[in-house]
Amino acid sequence: MAGVQLEHVVREYTMGRTTIRAVDDISFTIPEGKYTIILGASGAGKSTVLNILGGMDSPTSGRVTVNGREISGFNKRQLTEYRRESIGFVFQFYNLMPNLTVLENVELASQICKNPLDARQVLAMVGLGDRLNNFPAQCSGGEQQRGAIARALAKNPDVLLCDEPTGALDYQTGKAILALLYDLCKKSRKRWWWSPTTGRWRRRRTCSFG
Ligand SMILES: Nc1ncnc2c1ncn2[C@@H]1O[C@H](COP(=O)(O)OP(=O)(O)OP(=O)(O)O)[C@@H](O)[C@H]1O
Ligand SMILES: [Mg+2]
Repeated sequence: MAGVQLEHVVREYTMGRTTIRAVDDISFTIPEGKYTIILGASGAGKSTVLNILGGMDSPTSGRVTVNGREISGFNKRQLTEYRRESIGFVFQFYNLMPNLTVLENVELASQICKNPLDARQVLAMVGLGDRLNNFPAQCSGGEQQRGAIARALAKNPDVLLCDEPTGALDYQTGKAILALLYDLCKKSRKRWWWSPTTGRWRRRRTCSFG
């Protein structure tokens, strides 16, 4: 079944004699193409769930299925391939490489994937067409976040995961980033993609974000 399913997911961290239950028996389903927001108090386990969904961490128990593949049973090698091919991850503090330009940051990520989108086109789509050669330090916070989103999108991932993508931004820029993500999700669900070269909407084969 396409989409994301979590069934009775538990994640415990053991530190010495103490065990912290970061995720306590969580179950939910996200159908394919849905723009979904996870809300919760600080320490509730949101990042832990995202890290598990992104293949960066594994549950202590329970089942996680993404587009019909049970990732909770993956070994290290399968997780590496899953992260590379299926996941776009946007971090709260961007994590752009400071010594690469915005364009190079996006190209670096797309080089490791089988079916990437064109880096320049994706950057144009997020409004950074005229910032390609800027280094991250020469970009505003909102521009860096859009660069990080472009980097994740250029991988053409099945699932785009964003961990507080507006956490470091002011209210207006944060709103603009959320609107951009919502817009991208709607377009990808319909399998339509903005083509800056032709200036028209055109169909694309693969583009769906959970
Ligand atoms: N690697 C780890 N080792 C030990 N404890 C951890 C680890 N990662 C997370 N935790 C603990 O698990 C709980 C959930 O953490 P998590 O980062 O998922 O919360 P969160 O909901 O994302 O919080 P925030 O809104 O503050 O980002 C916290 O109590 C945290 O201290
Ligand atoms: Mg968090």
